[in-house]
Amino acid sequence: MIFDALREDIASFRQRDPAARSGLEIILCYPGFHALVIHRLSHWLWKKGICLPARFISYMGRIVTAIEIHPGAEIGRRFVIDHGTGVVVGETSIVGDDVTLYHSVTLGGTSPADNSGSQVGQKRHPTIKDGAIIGSGAAVLGPITIGENARVGANSVVTKDVPASVTAVGMPARVVMPRDKSKAREFQPYGTPADSGPDPMVRTIEGLRGQVSTLMERVEELENKQQDTGQATLLKRDSKAS
Ligand SMILES: CC(C)(COP(=O)(O)OP(=O)(O)OC[C@H]1O[C@@H](n2cnc3c(N)ncnc32)[C@H](O)[C@@H]1OP(=O)(O)O)[C@@H](O)C(=O)NCCC(=O)NCCS
Repeated sequence: MIFDALREDIASFRQRDPAARSGLEIILCYPGFHALVIHRLSHWLWKKGICLPARFISYMGRIVTAIEIHPGAEIGRRFVIDHGTGVVVGETSIVGDDVTLYHSVTLGGTSPADNSGSQVGQKRHPTIKDGAIIGSGAAVLGPITIGENARVGANSVVTKDVPASVTAVGMPARVVMPRDKSKAREFQPYGTPADSGPDPMVRTIEGLRGQVSTLMERVEELENKQQDTGQATLLKRDSKAS
């Protein structure tokens, strides 16, 4: 059973990293894979209440891989951390199946609303649903949910729920596009479609058209306002003259 799980993990790395050439390469050279194996052990100990050894093993794992996963974090199947350096996964994080994180991602905590007593055991970290991809450097903070098959752009800061099958980018993150739900389950390395959508020129023109129509609406609004004030002034003058 353990070997089946390991085989599945190795297959996931091969499938999601275009640079991976063999299973042996993953076993020897992939810190994300090492961190995952170490986490499975430390999490097992944590669940049994053997907390200090669990923490110690996880800390050793951090020294070797530069990836910090708290033993309390619940992680689903086929989890891939690509590159890995600087990844932090907090204690009450819940990660679904087929989730991908790139380097320097933080699944971090924020203080819960009820700040009264101890925060131990309170849900402080995010829940990442199946198939989500979190780009490098992104910080996902607080007990929020990243929906199924959603993508979070590199270096984004997310502090609110992200719905399923959308892309969220920026600081603070905002949804920039819905994803084609039929294709959302297909993994795309780096979260980026290979056929990167419409031609960049077409996208620029579309963007400009959007801006022009917003400006036209604004001009119309201002014209209407001016007309109203003009009429009001005329009425005032008429009433004074009479
Ligand atoms: C978010 C992401 C998945 C979107 O990819 P995409 O589908 O190709 O989207 P586009 O490039 O068409 O971008 C859509 C819009 O979001 C913006 N955008 C994309 N990524 C962004 C980011 N990380 N931060 C801020 N804005 C971003 C684009 O500028 C574009 O804005 P516009 O419509 O105003 O021009 C991708 O940009 C990303 O960040 N992937 C993570 C890659 C990564 O971590 N690589 C590390 C591997 S080592």
